[in-house]
Amino acid sequence: MVDTSDEWIFSHTGIRYRHIASEDQAASDLAVPAAKKAMAKAGVSPDDIDLILVATSTPDYPGLPSTACVLQEKLGIPSAGAMDLVAACSGFIYGLETARTYVAAGAARNVLVVGSEIYSRIVNWEDRGSSVLFGDGAGAAVVSVLSEGENRISPAILGSRGSGAESLCRLYGGTRHPYIPGVTPPEALLLQMDGKKVYTFAVAVIVQVIQDLLDQNGLTFSDLAYVVPHQANTRIIAAAAKRGGWDADRFYMNIEEYANTSAASIPLALDEMNEKGLLAPGDRVLCVGFGSGLTYGGTLITW
Ligand code: ACO
Repeated sequence: MVDTSDEWIFSHTGIRYRHIASEDQAASDLAVPAAKKAMAKAGVSPDDIDLILVATSTPDYPGLPSTACVLQEKLGIPSAGAMDLVAACSGFIYGLETARTYVAAGAARNVLVVGSEIYSRIVNWEDRGSSVLFGDGAGAAVVSVLSEGENRISPAILGSRGSGAESLCRLYGGTRHPYIPGVTPPEALLLQMDGKKVYTFAVAVIVQVIQDLLDQNGLTFSDLAYVVPHQANTRIIAAAAKRGGWDADRFYMNIEEYANTSAASIPLALDEMNEKGLLAPGDRVLCVGFGSGLTYGGTLITW
């Protein structure tokens, strides 16, 4: 569909494969198996979930109802609070922090946090600068009350730079530029990206978030078992590691297999690391996200 090559894509992004949802799947459908696996691993049943947070920029329906409500019905979770979070590729970090604060405040005991995305529906397949970057996927976690005083998720850093709102966005179809049949060109409804601007932003905020989180927790980089960055581009991660003076091998990457799955990329990576037995109890894992908004955020998890 576009003038590109495997060689260009791999050398400029680190991506070899992208997984594409089937036509009959929506974001909630990808979320179901991810959520079930997370609940099984956490040893909680649908009855135990007090709040469902779905981080997604590609919801089942545009705006309403929330994908979280659709997921609540599909999982048979009785009457939990349910809402979507829109923070694009930082969505899972925003979701984890929202869940952590609900649990820490005593407002919920078990919060289901899901990142689920089907970017293949919103990319412009005729734009080689963005279409080669994204894949579909979902990942999930349950944030729960542990024993008194035991905190495995440290307070996060969340940030935003709305001045860059239109550097990665779907310009039309909302209330600012409504879709007008016959007038709005179809491609105006799709994702548009200023790749260079996003690249520069991403490298800067990754370095800033990692350093701020280390300082906030009185740690140095060598105290971390892994950094799990949002999987957007291996070159972004390599540049951030170099700028921070950090060992790039400690940044976990699986973009080669999945491409950029937006809010799903961090939980997908954490699950893969867990399945591979890479994480031992007590390991410190720093997760850092960045994306449309522009948004960014980071959180420190003790495994
Ligand atoms: N295949 C072949 N050539 C391409 C492709 C492609 N897929 N895409 C761009 N090119 C061309 C350009 O047209 C340009 O050609 P020209 O010099 O003749 O004009 C040349 O390659 C270089 O283009 P650059 O934009 O300089 O390429 P760059 O090396 O910067 O890579 C990329 C582009 C991969 C998009 C990079 O800028 C990037 O990764 N940016 C961040 C994007 C990102 O991560 N977005 C998601 C953020 S998360 C979220 O919230 C969704």
